[in-house]
This record gives sequence, structure tokens and C-alpha cells, in this order.
Amino acid sequence: MKAIISERYGQADSLTLREVVIPSLDRNQVLVKVHASSINFGNLVLLTGKPLPARLAFGLLKPKYSIPGGDVAGIVEAVGENVTGFQIGDEVFGDLSTSGWGAFAQYTAANETSLALKPSNLTFAEAAAVPMAGATALQAIRDSGKLAAGMKVLLHGASGGVGTFAIQIAKVYGAEVTAVVSTRNTEMARALGADHVLDYQKENLENHEQTYDVIFGVNGAQPLSVYNRLLKENGQFIHVGGESSQMYQTLLKGSWLSMVGKKKYSTFLHRTKQEDLLFLKEQIEAGKIRPIIDREYSLQEVPKAIQYFEKGRSQGKVIISVFN
Ligand SMILES: NC(=O)c1ccc[n+]([C@@H]2O[C@H](COP(=O)([O-])OP(=O)(O)OC[C@H]3O[C@@H](n4cnc5c(N)ncnc54)[C@H](OP(=O)(O)O)[C@@H]3O)[C@@H](O)[C@H]2O)c1
Repeated sequence: MKAIISERYGQADSLTLREVVIPSLDRNQVLVKVHASSINFGNLVLLTGKPLPARLAFGLLKPKYSIPGGDVAGIVEAVGENVTGFQIGDEVFGDLSTSGWGAFAQYTAANETSLALKPSNLTFAEAAAVPMAGATALQAIRDSGKLAAGMKVLLHGASGGVGTFAIQIAKVYGAEVTAVVSTRNTEMARALGADHVLDYQKENLENHEQTYDVIFGVNGAQPLSVYNRLLKENGQFIHVGGESSQMYQTLLKGSWLSMVGKKKYSTFLHRTKQEDLLFLKEQIEAGKIRPIIDREYSLQEVPKAIQYFEKGRSQGKVIISVFN
């Protein structure tokens, strides 16, 4: 089979397309014929080995997962002897980023628990957009933010892979959503259900008058003093992503502010959970959530796709189409 191979930490141009053997299955695994994958920030971490603490999980001197690719959508080709949830021919989607990666290939061996049946109303390319970005948004909103109907929420940086799901999932939980995006993304944010849209190229958050129950820092960065002023008395700021300065501010200044006041500041880390894939599938099939695709690349164009993604300007998701 053809696969993208990563032999050392480096940049996107260090990845090569090679002919390798189809992976063998262990008892709890499913062999998936990959139709599509997508790019997430985790791909950049696995590619570069940075930030350095990530090497504790990914390999100290070189990546221990030689075939990258976390999100997957495809068809079950074979099942291990202990697999009970899937049969040959099932259309599946999933997130392999916590179970060995391997989706930038024509076939991948995936743990059964990293997969779910694909939403029936999505193409493989659309389904591959969902797993990591959708689950990140879901876990931030439901588990960390504990959003409930009527809560006022600000999503800072709502136009990328995670943000476009976050707008829709916050609406599923009944929140009143304000999305902060650039001019070119205002219409998309409204179309995804944002009740209010702030164009960060025209309006400075420092002058913004509203206050919020929860603020999610998804992309970009703001001084914590700005968020502190925009939070209600018992409000919370949750750092999902964005510039690294935002994470350090949340960990240092935010922890201190959380100790001395009623407003809480925390960071958040996504985990692969089969039940979350099933929740996303249900919402997608009910027409409440849809993936937004910026552009598609072929398997051999993975380096180009990563170079585009790392500019940080994607509108929704960047897809890798494997079998066309
Ligand atoms: N905590 C976790 O477990 C977890 C999991 C996955 C991802 N993440 C993090 O979540 C963040 C978002 O990931 P993603 O895949 O959605 O990224 P992405 O798709 O690359 O986001 C790109 C979008 O961000 C917008 N953007 C860029 N700079 C901005 C700014 N200063 N203010 C507002 N919007 C800005 C861009 O639009 P404009 O340029 O037009 O504004 C673009 O639409 C990343 O930092 C990633 O590391 C965290």
C-alpha cells in the first residue's frame, strides 16, 4: 500500500510517499481501507516533535509513529478476533491520534474503540473532518464549559476546524453564541448559527460592552485582563488553543486569578472517546451539525496540505482524500 512516512522530526517536506506492507491486525483492531483523513494541530506536533514535552509521548529522538494521520474515514476490510462492534464492509470514521496514528495511508489498523459507524449523510471526506476537531469542540463545550440553555458564550477564533464545530455544538446546548472572527469569516459564522458575530478586524474586544458566562479561547490571543473584564462574576475562561502565549497566560496568571477570585481560568486537552463520535454522528444525522471543508489534497500532497494548514488561516477543515 502507499503511505506517508515520517522518519525524523522536521518540517512537512521531510515526509515521503512510500510503498509499505499493509499493517497486520491485533485481536482488538479493525483494518480500515482509508478513503479520507484530515489535518489537525496534533499533526504538526508529531511532525516537528515540538513542543519538546510532546516527545515523551511521541518518541524522544524520532517519531515512534512512522505513519502520521489521526482522523480517518473509510471502509472496514477485516476485523480482529475480539472485535464485536464492526463487520467487513461497514463505513466508519474515527480518531487514531491516541491509538497509534496511521491514517495517511491506503489502509490502517485501528483500535475498535477509536472508531464509530460513519454518519450516513456524509461523504468520506466530510466524515474525516469530524473526529478530532468535533470531539475537541464537544468536550470543551460540554465537559469543561458545562454549557446550558441561555448561557452567554464567547468563542474567540471560531472559523477554523475546531471553531466551526464549536459554534454549532454551543447552539445544540442552547447557548447564546458570540463568535469572534475576521471579516472574511463573518458570513460563515452566522450561517453556522452564531447569534452575534464580532469582526476582530473592525472591533477591538477591549472596547466590547457585553459580559459572558463562558469564554473559549479557540484561536488567536487576548490579554487575560480583556477576558477578565468580559466575564460575568462567576464566569470562566477555557483555553482550547490559539497562540502559545495564551496558554502560558492561562496556566500562570489564570491559575492565580482563579485562586483569588470567583472567575475561573483553565486549559483543556481533548481525548478520543467512542461515545463522543457517536454523539457527533447523531447530531450530524439530525442536521444539527455539519463539517465545513476549506480544501482537499491527495495522499501524495500531504506535505502541501500541512504547509497550508500551518499558516493558520483555514476556514474549517483541510482534508486528505486517499482513494478517489
Ligand atoms: N486543547 C485541545 O485538546 C486541542 C485539540 C485540537 C486543537 N487544539 C487547538 O485549537 C486551536 C484551533 O485548532 P484548529 O484546528 O481549529 O485551527 P485552524 O483550523 O488552523 O484555525 C484557523 C482559523 O483560525 C482563525 N484565526 C487565526 N488567527 C486568529 C486570531 N488572531 N483571532 C481569531 N481567529 C484567528 C483563522 O481565520 P482568520 O485568519 O480569518 O481569522 C482560521 O479560520 C489550535 O491552536 C489547536 O492547537 C486544541
